[in-house]
Amino acid sequence: MKTFHSIAELRATLQQERANGKRIGLVPTMGNLHEGHLQLVRQADSCCDIVVASIFVNPLQFGANEDLGSYPRTLKEDQEKLTGAGCDYLFAPSDEEMYPNGRETQTQVEVPGLSDIHCGASRPGHFQGVTTVVCKLFGIVQPDVAVFGEKDYQQLMVIRRMAEDLYLPVEIQGAPIARNEDGLALSSRNGYLSEEQMQVAPTLQRTLQEAKAAIQAGRRDYTQLEEESYQKLEAVGFTRDFFNICDAEDLSPADEQCKKLVILAAAPLGGARLIDNIEIDLSA
Ligand code: PAF
Repeated sequence: MKTFHSIAELRATLQQERANGKRIGLVPTMGNLHEGHLQLVRQADSCCDIVVASIFVNPLQFGANEDLGSYPRTLKEDQEKLTGAGCDYLFAPSDEEMYPNGRETQTQVEVPGLSDIHCGASRPGHFQGVTTVVCKLFGIVQPDVAVFGEKDYQQLMVIRRMAEDLYLPVEIQGAPIARNEDGLALSSRNGYLSEEQMQVAPTLQRTLQEAKAAIQAGRRDYTQLEEESYQKLEAVGFTRDFFNICDAEDLSPADEQCKKLVILAAAPLGGARLIDNIEIDLSA
């Protein structure tokens, strides 16, 4: 696997690949890779000739009091993992390479509405940072396919909407959530958890499953069910962010008529803000 830090050099190589008729897949990441990221690489590899992964801890998507400074940067280990997973090229630019004119005057890409609820309400400006950097990565790599994890359910929806609205010629694929043996969704931020917190963390997924089972059994008092779920999480040490039972089509609050639902959850535990989700299909 070859690593590029320069946009010009990466583009020259990819232009050649494209001229040779190669189909290009992109896996955007912020590094500190785990098995979930490697599954995205394998998925891209299964439908493309060339896989490009990017590692860029994007300052635009972090709020002022968030973990930009402490976000784990593990380039050497990541390179080894990507090589093992079949990645062809790694793009690992500096901040200056991605934002040569500074961040203040950077053109912004925004998906209004969808970016302002749930995670966007807790982290104002976050999705605007994500769509801006992903749009730039699409411009740089010009992938045929781009693969994103379904753990970030709302992010995937926001990116799909951006690609659709801007007629970007890229197929956006979601990849199933990778979990550890206890059901905890894999995340680079799990590294912030102590051993004790790692024991507690799978409660988030269990609470989602219990809420799903309750809905499948007929409960439709969603506000009450959300409140009970918060209380279960708080009882084991999580603090409240959101646990929202939504219409899977547009992420608005689900009502009794809704047949396809998703529960989106974000729950801080110690120094980590864990996110997870679960889909529910009542149409059968
Ligand atoms: O999901 C992530 O890791 C990031 O939000 C992404 C898509 C790489 C953009 O920085």
